[in-house]
Amino acid sequence: MDIQHVCILGAGTLGTRIAFQSALSGFQVKVYDIHEKSFELSKKMIEKIAKSLVSSQIYTAEDIQLALNRLSYTLNDQEAVNQADIISESVTEDIEIKRKVWTRMGEIAPEKTIFTTNTSYLLPSSLASFTGRPEKFCAFHFHDVFYSRVVDIMPHPGTNMELIPILQDFGRRLNQVPVYVRKENHGYIFNAMLLSFLGAAGKLLVNQVATIEDIDLSWKVNFHVPMGPFAILDQIGLDTAWHVTHQLPDANSQAFAALLKTYIDTGKLGEKTGEGFYKYTSK
Ligand SMILES: NC(=O)c1ccc[n+]([C@@H]2O[C@H](COP(=O)([O-])OP(=O)(O)OC[C@H]3O[C@@H](n4cnc5c(N)ncnc54)[C@H](O)[C@@H]3O)[C@@H](O)[C@H]2O)c1
Repeated sequence: MDIQHVCILGAGTLGTRIAFQSALSGFQVKVYDIHEKSFELSKKMIEKIAKSLVSSQIYTAEDIQLALNRLSYTLNDQEAVNQADIISESVTEDIEIKRKVWTRMGEIAPEKTIFTTNTSYLLPSSLASFTGRPEKFCAFHFHDVFYSRVVDIMPHPGTNMELIPILQDFGRRLNQVPVYVRKENHGYIFNAMLLSFLGAAGKLLVNQVATIEDIDLSWKVNFHVPMGPFAILDQIGLDTAWHVTHQLPDANSQAFAALLKTYIDTGKLGEKTGEGFYKYTSK
């Protein structure tokens, strides 16, 4: 199958990144969201990523401009999917929202369209029947897109296996390293490990064993890496982290979810709002 037109559902942290990389890879991209405000944030995010890609000499300013010409935003879902060869869904990590979105896509998307979800933690089988075409539905899960370039391909038992090589090829064209997850698993491969790591950091914090800064410092210095668990959470988005954490039944996860909620309630969602556990300036 020749993929040319990509539809992105959700113009947030990940939808924006997937959309921008798709446009940089030469695809025509339409981004749909229900909130116009998301488009403004998305454009700012792209500007920031573009600056770093140009200064790292990964793309030229001309490549960026050509990519931007291939990318457009719309509040009209029908317009977003009209020509789509593939949908990559990155709406809020909430099963009811995703089920509604997929029900609607099943009704309005062309027959040819491949359906993929970028869910971090839900199983594709919990969404598949809502699409009305479960055989065309598969999890296709990105990490950070530009820095962490693994894309998980995780079918559910009803996925037509002919989709797998198509998605592997599409993933490579998006400059990602495709990884095949042969059995449905919450959190795929990397996120399943990451969840334990971030949960352990949350447990240290809610039990007042150490401060945010010292927990991050301990990880960074030992592993010679630029970010510790709380900086990673800021990058993921504290709202997205909450959607996963509050579903875990153990007392430490519940206490950590309650702490995350206090940040969310004051608008501190992490890097995307300029403040989470840490403060971020444009500099
Ligand atoms: N943040 C990450 O690091 C990360 C990494 C991999 C996967 N994901 C997954 O990607 C998805 C999106 O996460 P995010 O961090 O980008 O969230 P986000 O909150 O930054 O963005 C979600 C976007 O979805 C939009 N939205 C909500 N309901 C909608 C609807 N009915 N139709 C269209 N748009 C709608 C919101 O307006 C918002 O712009 C989630 O499933 C998440 O688990 C996130």
